[in-house]
Amino acid sequence: MKLVNGFDLMKYAKEKGYVLPAFNTTNMEMTFAIVRGLNEAKLPGYVQISSNNLRLSDPQTIAYLVKKAQKDQDTPIGLHLDHGKSFQDVKACVDAGFTSIMIDASQLPYDENIAAVRQAADYCHFYGIPVEAELGAIGGKEDDIVNESNAKTNPDMVADFVERTHCDTLAVAVGNVHGLVAKPHIDLPLLAKLAEVSPVPLVLHGGSGIPFETIREARKYNLTKINYGADLRSALVTTFGQAYEKDHKECNLIELSLSSVEHVAERAKFLVEVINGKNEKIA
Ligand code: G3H
Ligand code: ZN
Repeated sequence: MKLVNGFDLMKYAKEKGYVLPAFNTTNMEMTFAIVRGLNEAKLPGYVQISSNNLRLSDPQTIAYLVKKAQKDQDTPIGLHLDHGKSFQDVKACVDAGFTSIMIDASQLPYDENIAAVRQAADYCHFYGIPVEAELGAIGGKEDDIVNESNAKTNPDMVADFVERTHCDTLAVAVGNVHGLVAKPHIDLPLLAKLAEVSPVPLVLHGGSGIPFETIREARKYNLTKINYGADLRSALVTTFGQAYEKDHKECNLIELSLSSVEHVAERAKFLVEVINGKNEKIA
């Protein structure tokens, strides 16, 4: 199946009542595992890669891998740029065939954030691709990037921000954090307020570590997408770490890589099922 355009994917999810997970990839193993997990669950979602991870896997490479993994499958999957840090990255990903884009200029002053998002939105919309923007600051640690600030999204700024940026979805800071170190404290009343004032659907970053009951509540508030990064990365790293702990001379890369794909795929399947209330273990 072809990669699905981001607007079509959101429309499909809305019609079916799904919330879309966006799983972060870094390399071939993560990419194959995510696609496998979504297809085994028969539930739609995104493979996404952050600008930071493009240092290892360039947009063309990741687009090739996702298309290859998805070739004979039929679960709708989109390919998303996560935390796009520059207009160059946005263009490179659109050129490579990404079907959804985030430009993250949330660290800039308000008007500069707006200008950066608007520039990306004008470009992406020409190609029919939706744009996610971020308002507020999500704390925690994403790979090696630490964000000390943790400013919640101000509901009074949302309408103006969306109107001036032309963004299609909005990533909000409501006590969610990146990574597995800091603890998330999701402010559900704030999320409810943001859903009320936002003209576009919301995106929740920092899915790893958020209790599933909280996710279930959060789903009521116009959430279209939930990002999971560290949770899956941990499944991959643990596969190698445990093997090394057991035997410091372990170097069977192919077998370990294959089992890492299996472990990450299982975890991706579990997460997409749980957030959609389809896994009776927790449902
Ligand atoms: O953009 C990526 C995510 O927000 C991932 O956050 O690593 O805490 O799941 P996480
Ligand atoms: Zn994020």
